[in-house]
Amino acid sequence: MNASEDPNRPLKDIGEWDDFVARDVYPEPQKRAKEDYRNYDDPARDCVRDFYRLHHEHQTYEFVREKEEKWLPTRQKTMTVLEALEFLNTLVDDSDPDIDLDQLQHLLQTSEAIRADGHEDWFVLTGFLHDLGKVLCLFGEPQWAVVGDTHPVGCRFSDRIVYSEFFDSNPDHCDERYNTRLGIYEEGCGLRNVHMSWGHDEYLYHILKDYLPEPALYMVRYHSFYAWHRENQYDYLCDDHDREMLFWVRKFNPYDLYTKCPELPRWDRLRGYYQTLLERYLPKALTF
Ligand SMILES: [Fe+2]
Ligand SMILES: [Fe+2]
Repeated sequence: MNASEDPNRPLKDIGEWDDFVARDVYPEPQKRAKEDYRNYDDPARDCVRDFYRLHHEHQTYEFVREKEEKWLPTRQKTMTVLEALEFLNTLVDDSDPDIDLDQLQHLLQTSEAIRADGHEDWFVLTGFLHDLGKVLCLFGEPQWAVVGDTHPVGCRFSDRIVYSEFFDSNPDHCDERYNTRLGIYEEGCGLRNVHMSWGHDEYLYHILKDYLPEPALYMVRYHSFYAWHRENQYDYLCDDHDREMLFWVRKFNPYDLYTKCPELPRWDRLRGYYQTLLERYLPKALTF
């Protein structure tokens, strides 16, 4: 079955979502003026729209709690990071010429750009790891439970989230337990107490949480939380620690969105460097 025939796979490749965010929602300010991402007549954009329709309809508080129960206490496959990367790379759809980067190249371009700017090694490593949670796709999770903007569930959805009109079909939108400003949360409770829509960010955070410095963990956990780090929403759920860490999440974002090297990093030449970096911070194998 190809992507277009499977209602759970509106995107030909999950990279289409990342490309959409970088090109149409948050384009580089110096490169082009922001245009309304809704006003496109483009079949690729329709896939993204279908994707968001599913994402916003199905990411309810209850759905998120189910996924947390399924994935956080027990995971299923123990691999080295390099094995996980090879596994992730099987996601590539090479039938589509528009999707020119495989997952490894995206991670390498991100981390090499961070390294070229002279940042500390844990920051480089974070760039290299940040999307590894997308292996969820290979474990059978639908695209809309792996990628997409993340946002809190259990309280009102911000209208600054991309395609927020699709939240009208989300059952929580009409549920008075979940549709008020605070919902189930307390003012300033801290993001660590907030349940986020399920996806690769939260999942990878739990795999890495014992090994990386705190700013790195925020980058991993909240890099798709655009409503927070780009649109300044949900500050009322944050505490001072979150606000301090927001600096790092914002620092990371341009590397994730806009790094396109004219010359592709050569994995065969870089492998040794990353192997050493991985050994410095992580155990030999991780359970995904
Ligand atoms: Fe990501
Ligand atoms: Fe990424």
